[in-house]
Amino acid sequence: MGDGGTSRAGTFERGEARKTAEGLSYLSGFGNEHSSESVPGALPEGRNSPQRAPLGLYAEQLSGTAFTEPRAHNRRSWLYRIRPSAAHPAFTRAADNGGLRTAPFTDLAPDPNRLRWNPPPEPPPGTDFLAGLWTLGGNGDATQRTGMAVHLYHADATMERIFSDADGELLVVPERGGLLLRTEFGLLHVEPGQVALIPRGVRFRVELLDTTARGYVCENYGSPFRLPDLGPIGANGLANARDFQAPVAAYEDVTGPVEVVNKFCGNLWTATYDHSPLDVVAWHGTHVPYVYDLRRFNVIGTISYDHPDPSIFTVLTSPSDTPGLAGVDFVVFAPRWLVGENTFRPPYFHRNVMSEYMGLIEGAYDAKAEGFVPGGGSLHNMMSAHGPDRETFDRASAAELKPQKVDDGLAFMFETRWPVTLTPQAATAGHLQRRYDDVWQGLERHFRPLH
Ligand SMILES: [Fe+2]
Repeated sequence: MGDGGTSRAGTFERGEARKTAEGLSYLSGFGNEHSSESVPGALPEGRNSPQRAPLGLYAEQLSGTAFTEPRAHNRRSWLYRIRPSAAHPAFTRAADNGGLRTAPFTDLAPDPNRLRWNPPPEPPPGTDFLAGLWTLGGNGDATQRTGMAVHLYHADATMERIFSDADGELLVVPERGGLLLRTEFGLLHVEPGQVALIPRGVRFRVELLDTTARGYVCENYGSPFRLPDLGPIGANGLANARDFQAPVAAYEDVTGPVEVVNKFCGNLWTATYDHSPLDVVAWHGTHVPYVYDLRRFNVIGTISYDHPDPSIFTVLTSPSDTPGLAGVDFVVFAPRWLVGENTFRPPYFHRNVMSEYMGLIEGAYDAKAEGFVPGGGSLHNMMSAHGPDRETFDRASAAELKPQKVDDGLAFMFETRWPVTLTPQAATAGHLQRRYDDVWQGLERHFRPLH
């Protein structure tokens, strides 16, 4: 649990943090070779590592992909900082990992059942973002840089400490409460309806802008999320690159004990620095955090018949070694028009080789009449049969097919090529719904053979 956080948790501090968050400006574009300096002249010109970096700064490269990966997918940044990251004391294992668990998930057998959870319970007072992380399950192996984990978070205190994750990048999907993310690259403001991505290894601190914060995190052990190819869609559509916003450089020049927590191969390790490592004065590169507003997503669907496959809603994808087969896709079900003629318009019944974890940011989802609520989630593992519940099926089968705007909810999906194995805490949680299967009860036999 967080060791207090009270000095930052008060109304005044939250007000200040919100003022800071709402005044931020950003750099625009996904995967760009961005550059930013918070002090004029801090960024060297014409080379990355001059004999003496400007202003007495240290030059340091942070690699998110191997040096030799193809240029189009290579991610690295150069940081110009007050002290080099190497200037730190030894890390020691934290007493425990809290609610965090890491692949491989071997405690339980993978479960073929359809599963659904209510929102997690309130956190104990003083819980910061890191202490509030709770792992539902996942797949792959963090040490092999394959697979992903599904976490939820629930916090009521601002972090005093600083966190980084060597195991993967973190896609943060807030459902309740705004966050101010102070990262090595600068500040990001993310609210419910937006997502933030913290790349592998980037240090950050999460400050709460509201009384509590709640949401979802996809920890992606695999290759960094990128925009999906568009194929015949063309040069535009889905998530537009220009809507991804990276921070401008901002640093804190703080001397004094600062707790830094590093997640490494599944365990939390801590060290007490004598300064803040958020001391990057200038930077350039492609391995950068960003925010994206899901309402900017260009939703594409049918204008003739049939509900397209949900891959049409892919925001970001982490490719695996097999073309078209994602380690994990991040998919959003944003407001959209339904106009299909002679079409069952909600998501169809299906069994999918991919495994689907769904969450709800606000409102409702058009395939479920009830029970799937904001802050909760569902898991439909590989080949599990799912689709509309009985009430939705009955309604949609009888609906008048005039153009219909679906704008009362924002749902998302982490869709992965491997089954999601639960953690014991998720399998035994009090907020696991015990009778989820019942939503498909009463789908009656309507078959009438012709004679
Ligand atoms: Fe599905």
